[in-house]
Amino acid sequence: MKKIGVMTSGGDAPGMNAAIRSVVRTCAYYRVQCVGIYRGYQGLIEGDFVPMTARGVNNIIQKGGTILKSARSDEFRTKEGREKAYDNCKKHNIDGLVVIGGDGSFTGGVVFNEEFNIPIIGIPGTIDNDIFGTTHTIGYDTALNTAMEAIDKIRDTASSHNRLFFVEVMGRDAGFIALNVGVGAGAEEILIPEENLGLERMLESLKKSKYSGKSSSIVVVSEGDKSGKNVYELAEYVEKNLPEYEVRVSVLGHIQRGGSPSCFDRVLASRMGVKAVELLLDGKYSLMVGLKDDKIVTTDLINAIKGAGDINMELIRVSDIMTT
Ligand code: F6P
Repeated sequence: MKKIGVMTSGGDAPGMNAAIRSVVRTCAYYRVQCVGIYRGYQGLIEGDFVPMTARGVNNIIQKGGTILKSARSDEFRTKEGREKAYDNCKKHNIDGLVVIGGDGSFTGGVVFNEEFNIPIIGIPGTIDNDIFGTTHTIGYDTALNTAMEAIDKIRDTASSHNRLFFVEVMGRDAGFIALNVGVGAGAEEILIPEENLGLERMLESLKKSKYSGKSSSIVVVSEGDKSGKNVYELAEYVEKNLPEYEVRVSVLGHIQRGGSPSCFDRVLASRMGVKAVELLLDGKYSLMVGLKDDKIVTTDLINAIKGAGDINMELIRVSDIMTT
């Protein structure tokens, strides 16, 4: 293996730059050429490449976003698109790819490898943490802290006005952010897609907390929650059924994807980048690097895309007890 391509794909996540830096510097360490691919698979299709050197990734470990840009490529979903991508790999002598992204990016990588036999290693980079084979994805820890700090601020105004806030956090299919931030920010209720306890239960809990003397409350709602109501409808529902509450809604949105990565995400990204390049150099392909029990491990890429890890039931119990 003489030349490795690196790209970031799908939704960006804080720490992606630290992962790029790690891949580039590990290549330099082993004297392998490294090429950056702009805008994920779309850049691979268009041949939008840049040579990467150890010094070229100075001063990026602390930066949010991704210097290589990111995209969700519809063209790569087509055979013709993937053929163009393969032609570019051949033309530029790219022997293997490191794909930093989420499950959609890994699905594309598996198909591409099956069709054209290009060696691929995945690094999980998404704030959602919804990847099987790792306890933490790059960006998740930073997003947790961003969301928690935002909710702390919302609590200041909630308690000043004796209000109830519904706060929507990201997580299209998974409730990792909502559950952890909910516990960390002391939320009254946490609504996640994995555990639909019904709206009645939420009303009961809010009623209880009002009568127990609480003046303000926060309900954290995961974007992918399965209650059947969006965050605004939930607010209306509570106002109708519990008129004693004055309700407001706050959707945190893309703020959770930005910002300087936490120390945890920088270290994780650095470790994963080293392992990804070393796997390619050892001739091991179609794997995703992950973290388990603080050790860097690997999972078949095909399994990594099959689903998220389990939600932590203990945290649900802790949250219940904390709202007593
Ligand atoms: O996958 C990460 C994520 O931030 C999800 O939590 C969210 O649903 C989605 O991306 C938003 O995607 P986009 O930035 O394309 O709107």
